[in-house]
Amino acid sequence: MNVIKNSSDLRLNIEQLKTRGTTIGFVPTMGYLHEGHLTLAKEARENNEIVVMSIFVNPLQFGPNEDFDHYPRDVDRDTELARMAGVDILFIPEASDVYRGKQSVTMSVKERVDVLCGRKREGHFDGVVTVLTKLFHLVQPTRAYFGQKDAQQVAVVEGLVSDYFFPLEIVSVPTVREEDGLAKSSRNVYLSHEERVEAPFLYRSLKEARESIELGERNPSVITGEISVDIQEHTSGTIDYVEVYSYPELEKLDRLKGDIILAIAVQFQQARLIDNIIISVESKEDSNV
Ligand code: PAJ
Repeated sequence: MNVIKNSSDLRLNIEQLKTRGTTIGFVPTMGYLHEGHLTLAKEARENNEIVVMSIFVNPLQFGPNEDFDHYPRDVDRDTELARMAGVDILFIPEASDVYRGKQSVTMSVKERVDVLCGRKREGHFDGVVTVLTKLFHLVQPTRAYFGQKDAQQVAVVEGLVSDYFFPLEIVSVPTVREEDGLAKSSRNVYLSHEERVEAPFLYRSLKEARESIELGERNPSVITGEISVDIQEHTSGTIDYVEVYSYPELEKLDRLKGDIILAIAVQFQQARLIDNIIISVESKEDSNV
């Protein structure tokens, strides 16, 4: 595995690969790697000749009161894990390299951001699309891999790629979970012992809501109400949001229909956890006929 720490070296490497027509699978991350990230790398490994992973805790996507300074970091461990996952090029740039001086063009996301994390984390997705535009240009991937755990991120990035004709395919990979159902996340290390025991109720509440939908419930407020009660009863966390929208458009629904996302964010003492499930309501109705 080639560990590259600056953009000029990366550019040289990629140019050589491109002249040979090599397919490149790209896995952008902020590090502190876990099974979720490694599953994306494994998918990339299966379908591309070369796998590039980036590790960059992007300051632009963190708000002033968010956990940028405390975001967990362990580059040595990450390097070993990336190597074992079959990554060919690990790109670990400095912020001064990615953001060279004053930026003369800024990016602003207009659609799919006034809900869920986008509404709660102002400017977050502007930071995400900015860094991804830079990384996509540097890496020139054939395919880029994203986790369904951050479903709004997938929806926003699909918008970016489609609007700006990025010549690459976005591959969305199902959420990787602990055995008890908790979605794997770099932030899980910040849960206290008690919170860690409660945290699987996030996913459990989503699954129960899915069952209600399967039994015929079509009223969005009933579903979000059920999830909220479940989380309040079983965890000490504070609900940030419990929402349901069409997916990937992220539009409000009067009745549940088509592809929908049930999404939640819960603030624990030191960690804010998110989770979601995407279900196809129509196909369930059809299969019941
Ligand atoms: P990060 O949170 O490190 O996540 C990197 C990728 O791993 C994202 O696509 C995320 O959805 C995926 N991922 C995280 N947990 C997962 C899980 N349990 N199962 C499956 N996939 C999972 O998301 C970011 O970094 C940044 O916003 C980034 C895209 C790198 C831009 O800075």
